Amino acid sequence: MKGIILHGGHGTRLRPLTHTGPKQLLPIANKPMSQYALEDFREAGITDIGIIIGDVYPEKVKEYYGNGENFGVKITYIYQDKPKGISHAIKLCKDFVGKEKFIVYLGDNILRKGLIDYKKNFESSSIDAMILLCKVDDPSRFGIAEINSNSNAIEKIIEKPKEPKSDLAVIGVYFLTPKIFDVIDVLKPSARGELEITEALQLLMNNGNSIKYETVTGWWKDTGTPEDILHANQLVLDSIGKENQFVIDKDAIIKNNIVIGNNSEISTDSHLEGPLIIGNNCKVGSGVRLGPNVSVGNNTVLENCHIDNSILMENCEISSNVHLSSSIIANGSKIEANNETHDTYQLLLGERSQLKI
Ligand code: TTP
Repeated sequence: MKGIILHGGHGTRLRPLTHTGPKQLLPIANKPMSQYALEDFREAGITDIGIIIGDVYPEKVKEYYGNGENFGVKITYIYQDKPKGISHAIKLCKDFVGKEKFIVYLGDNILRKGLIDYKKNFESSSIDAMILLCKVDDPSRFGIAEINSNSNAIEKIIEKPKEPKSDLAVIGVYFLTPKIFDVIDVLKPSARGELEITEALQLLMNNGNSIKYETVTGWWKDTGTPEDILHANQLVLDSIGKENQFVIDKDAIIKNNIVIGNNSEISTDSHLEGPLIIGNNCKVGSGVRLGPNVSVGNNTVLENCHIDNSILMENCEISSNVHLSSSIIANGSKIEANNETHDTYQLLLGERSQLKI
């Protein structure tokens, strides 16, 4: 079986973070979100992986993953000129897939339980497609599946319904066979101008093909908005020190639910509260309060600040007496003291921002 990771799209809801790179490279617990998908594939024994790259700094994706050998996989890059829809991206993979079954994983989705069991079930079955469903609070934001209460079979799959009849979202991991290419060939762009995956799946059913579903156990997160990213960060950090924790960093020191990277210096006069991850070569100076639910990227230097429920990326400096909560601060940003402030801020800062507060 082959794997495909979707790494295109514009990530408009995550601007300004996506002005300088694709959203799927934004870190969750100090690891690019698409790496969770790649590691799920590898753990499930799928090492032949196609990555769809789009028009937002695709070279950064190639630079990070290379040919895949550092990650124990083989990567083929497939270029999508514009985000014309998930089905459009899948169509571009026809030659890569050949005659095999395959799995498409949206690079901004994280699945707690991984793929191993789902992949085994799909591989040994003769069904034409399998989707994963997860109960959600806000079904009008997602593609939704309606299930027949007598037969338990999927009745209908609809993209972002205005008046949803079900709260079961179709999550961004699709188990497919080459039959999907025939239906995508006859798909028309939707009202938002995209070739929709939900319409391709519905058409596959209409043509008499068998589509099964499994309900996700454990959590699933689609990280389209800053709030989603902070929530995903919290969910991943929450696994530190627990059985089946996410692979965070093999070389780091893990104390209870706190991970500290190589060469990082932590002042005895600081207060750390897990779950929390601190990368390599960081300096956590005196008077710093960190946590819970904070990720600090490599080479970041902190003095005197108080940070909770936030993501600080690499090479940041915060030397102001500020309290940051529910904030995302991208690479190379600097926050300095202007006044003696003790206020709480909720910031979303793009790369190399400079702030005096
Ligand atoms: P979306 O979140 O629907 O789209 P987006 O990433 O462009 O974000 P926004 O709505 O904020 O502008 O995309 C879901 C996933 O699929 C995401 O990982 C990007 C990927 N994708 C592609 O690779 N190609 C596409 O044509 C589309 C629409 C999405």
